[in-house]
Amino acid sequence: MTRENGLGLLLVLLLPVVGASRPGTVVRLNKEVLSYAAEAGKAPLQRALQVTVPNFLDRSGEALQPTRIQILNVHLPHLHLKLIAGFGIRLSAAANFTLKIFHVPEPLHLMLPMELLVDAPVDQCSIGTPVVSISDCFSFFDEAIVLDDRNRAAPALLVPLQKHIQAVLQSKLCLRVSNVVQSLNVHLGTLIGLSRVGPESQVRYSMINAPTITRDYISLDVNAILFLLGRPIMLPEVNTSFVLPHHVGTRGAMVTVGLSQDLFDSALLLLQKAGVLNMDITGQLKSDDNILNTSVLGQLIPEVARQFPEPMALVLKVRLGAMPTVTLHTNNATLQLQPFVEVLAPASNSAFQSLFSLNVVVNLSLQLFVSGVRLRGTTSVLGNVQITMASSNVGFIDMEKVQILMDTVFERPLLDHLNALLGLGIALPHVVNLHYISPEIFVYEGYVVVSSALLYQR
Ligand SMILES: *[C@@H]1O[C@H](CO)[C@@H](O)[C@H](O)[C@H]1NC(C)=O
Ligand SMILES: *[C@@H]1O[C@H](CO)[C@@H](O)[C@H](O)[C@H]1NC(C)=O
Ligand SMILES: *[C@@H]1O[C@H](CO)[C@@H](O)[C@H](O)[C@H]1NC(C)=O
Ligand SMILES: *[C@@H]1O[C@H](CO)[C@@H](O)[C@H](O)[C@H]1NC(C)=O
Ligand SMILES: *[C@@H]1O[C@H](CO)[C@@H](O)[C@H](O)[C@H]1NC(C)=O
Repeated sequence: MTRENGLGLLLVLLLPVVGASRPGTVVRLNKEVLSYAAEAGKAPLQRALQVTVPNFLDRSGEALQPTRIQILNVHLPHLHLKLIAGFGIRLSAAANFTLKIFHVPEPLHLMLPMELLVDAPVDQCSIGTPVVSISDCFSFFDEAIVLDDRNRAAPALLVPLQKHIQAVLQSKLCLRVSNVVQSLNVHLGTLIGLSRVGPESQVRYSMINAPTITRDYISLDVNAILFLLGRPIMLPEVNTSFVLPHHVGTRGAMVTVGLSQDLFDSALLLLQKAGVLNMDITGQLKSDDNILNTSVLGQLIPEVARQFPEPMALVLKVRLGAMPTVTLHTNNATLQLQPFVEVLAPASNSAFQSLFSLNVVVNLSLQLFVSGVRLRGTTSVLGNVQITMASSNVGFIDMEKVQILMDTVFERPLLDHLNALLGLGIALPHVVNLHYISPEIFVYEGYVVVSSALLYQR
């Protein structure tokens, strides 16, 4: 990337999201993701609860005796997350703290059962990422259990000791939980990171309004902005917002991602503007499987045979002036390309001369798949390639004959080129270290759905 492009990109990133009003994409985190998150969150939360407890000052004797206290273990078997409609997430956990009291003459082991209740609203941050905060955090303690039964501690010690421990834990635990939530937010912040689309192009997703939260899901309206050389690519007249219907995709999937027609149109516009859909198909002489030469063409067009008595290799210049269109019907995605093809032959002065040019229409069936975090595609030709003459410098051309020739020389290179491009794909909305697992794709009228499980893995 040149310095100028880099600067342009930086400016774009610093600017508020340009004309951001259309979602284009919906990421719906279903309640199923919560049991996974709870399972994955147990270990970090358990570690976070391992706080230090200051010495206990025993005021029962005549001298003030400091007693050291250590948390030996935190056992957190139950962690439960639940969605609260219009609000966010409620966390409830039950844990047992095993504590060692360095009491003279003999140490004492206590088990302190605790319940933790945290209410965490989920909102939208000003930079367009989801953000979790804590509105309420409570810890409830049960009676401590003395583990060494031969060591019968005096209640005169136990009662103030337990009060001390509870007071410490109460003040520290919620702070620790808040730290865990903060690191989660840092993670969620990576949603707005730029992902590469092609050599000079990127996509960036960001939330455009507060999440919709029901008992069953948290739904994020996400805007996808595509950049070419650091500049946003905008579709001309789009003003409808995309609403993802309720029961789409796989039932019980952790995440349902809805991708609107707009996203596909924008991605194609990007490819077209970047010029990467254009290609040259070149002929080779003395090749049995490459028929792009003037002697083959001369058999169909007399003027070509007359102008090129010596065989010459031909070049097909394929240019996409019009934007390709994608059509999404139930279980059926198609792509239409309308390339302009110029047939060129070498002229005397090492330049090329145009023999004739064609308007081509080709319908392709588009198969979509997800690998990594990218939505990718592969195409095959549907029906016939439709060819009409645009101009000729070699007189009359019998289109029926040229059609067969074009089908042969045009189809395979076009498909190879297109499939290589679509195979690179476009990143779906994602955050660092969170992977789409066993994704399934569904094509509906006007949009595509990806249903997937998620896996957190560093
Ligand atoms: C805590 O320990 C007690 C006694 O062993 C046990 O009955 C209880 O189920 C434990 N609670 C948790 C949350 O592990
Ligand atoms: C926006 O959509 C409405 C309703 O579909 C339409 O009447 C209006 O012309 C559109 N505006 C633009 C700028 O496309
Ligand atoms: C032109 O193409 C045909 C078909 O591939 C091939 O048989 C022939 O040898 C080629 N002519 C030259 C001069 O390369
Ligand atoms: C998909 O649509 C194309 C074009 O409309 C059609 O030719 C094709 O038969 C359809 N395929 C299926 C599986 O419906
Ligand atoms: C391409 O598909 C469109 C819409 O289904 C159809 O009208 C058109 O005839 C097709 N063209 C070719 C060349 O197959």
